[in-house]
Amino acid sequence: MVQARTFLLKKIRDEIINLTTSPLYQYRKKNNYFPVIGEGNHNAAIMFIGEAPGQKEAETGRPFCGAAGKILDELIESIGLGRSDVYITNVVKDRPPNNRDPSQTEIELYGPFLQKQIEIIKPKVIATLGRFSTKYILEKFGMPEKDQSISVLHGKALDAIAAYGPIKIVPLYHPAVVLYNVNSRKILEEDFKIIKRLI
Ligand code: URA
Repeated sequence: MVQARTFLLKKIRDEIINLTTSPLYQYRKKNNYFPVIGEGNHNAAIMFIGEAPGQKEAETGRPFCGAAGKILDELIESIGLGRSDVYITNVVKDRPPNNRDPSQTEIELYGPFLQKQIEIIKPKVIATLGRFSTKYILEKFGMPEKDQSISVLHGKALDAIAAYGPIKIVPLYHPAVVLYNVNSRKILEEDFKIIKRLI
């Protein structure tokens, strides 16, 4: 029997596939890209939320399968977990052209799908990767820290209340920063340890 969560997540997938109103829809079609919905354990205690798919992700339909994804995999493994233990998704589900930052319109359009994914999977820990997903999640959860910079917030476990109960929000640097600044790997490794302590 298909689990209720899987059924509900498939519904979201179908809605996003048919999101012809998205400013990114034509770009997806023109390039034969896939939307990137999310991947992992539908009963995960931890959900990682990135920004938007890059080229490799759009070509495969899988989140974090490129260079930044390799670093994310290593960080997840550093706390004794694997991809199949967690759920990985993004705020924006289609690739913005040339990896530009997602626009506010795009974030607002795709955000409700992310909110539904959270309501279905009910993670105990939401780890936001980078400033876009951190800002979006802190705003949606009405957190007083919403205007603070990621350089202040990273690695903190913030108490929040979801519709299904209390959760922790852990802002993290985006793993892609390691590609430009190798020293940031140490910071990410330290910050990941807090996730381990929370589960
Ligand atoms: N960066 C993101 O934010 N998300 C991905 O899926 C890949 C790279």
